[in-house]
Amino acid sequence: MSALQQRYLAEMGIPVWRLRANDPARPLPVEAEREASTGNEAKLAAAQEAPAASRGVEAAPPDGLDWEQLALAVRDCTRCGLHRGRTQTVFGVGRRDADLMIIGEAPGAEEDRQGEPFVGRAGQLLNAMLTAIGFAREEVYIANILKCRPPNNRDPQPSEQATCTPYLDRQIELIEPKAILALGRIAAQWLLQTDVPIGRLRGQVRQYGAAGIPLVVSYHPAYLLRSPLAKSKSWQDLCVVRDIVSQVE
Ligand code: URA
Repeated sequence: MSALQQRYLAEMGIPVWRLRANDPARPLPVEAEREASTGNEAKLAAAQEAPAASRGVEAAPPDGLDWEQLALAVRDCTRCGLHRGRTQTVFGVGRRDADLMIIGEAPGAEEDRQGEPFVGRAGQLLNAMLTAIGFAREEVYIANILKCRPPNNRDPQPSEQATCTPYLDRQIELIEPKAILALGRIAAQWLLQTDVPIGRLRGQVRQYGAAGIPLVVSYHPAYLLRSPLAKSKSWQDLCVVRDIVSQVE
C-alpha cells in the first residue's frame, strides 16, 4: 500500500494494522488488511431480497442515444417538476469506459451550483475512499439517480426517480461497467427495487439490470461524515468492489 493510500485511510479513520514484532514499520500482509472483507466475500449472490419490480417507467426516451445526445436530453429535461428549481442539471462525470461506476442519490446544493456530482464534503470523502482502493476520481464514472437537485435536499420522490432513471440506465448501458457501487439507502433501494434496510443490502454482491452487473451497496459518504464508526464497514464494501473490478476480465 502506498504512502498516499495510507494517508487517505488514516483520514478516513480506518486503522492499518502493523506487526509490532521486529519491524514496527512493517505493515501486515495484504491478506490481513483484507480480513474484514473476507467475511463478506464477493460472491455473486443471485438473489435480491425483493424481485426487481417494474418501476412503471414509460418507454425510456433516451434509448439509443449517444453520449452527446444523452447529455443534451438531460440538460434540456423538463420531465418532472425538479427542473423548475435547478441551477443546472448534474449529468455525471468520469471515464465513459470506466470499470467502476458510482451511483449516488441526487445533487446537493454544491453539485447544483457546479454541475458535477459529489463535489461537496461528501464528495471529498468519496475521493479519499476511491484513492484508498487505488482509483483516481477521474478513472471511475460518478452519477446520481436524479439529475436535478430536490428542494432543500429532501429525499427524491419515487415518481422523480422513475422519470429520471432511464437517463442513468442509458449511461450504464454506454459505460458497461464491471461493477457498480451504490452509495446510500436511497440509491441502493431504488436500484434494487426493495425496501430492505441498507445494513442488510450491503455485505453481499447484488446484480443490476438485464446485464446482471455486479452491484455493491455501501453507506453514503455524507452518512460516514456523521457516523465515523460505519467507516470500517464501508472499507469492507470498498474492498469487495475493488476485488470485483480487478477480477473481471
Ligand atoms: N449526494 C449524492 O448522493 N450525490 C451527490 O452528487 C452529492 C451528494
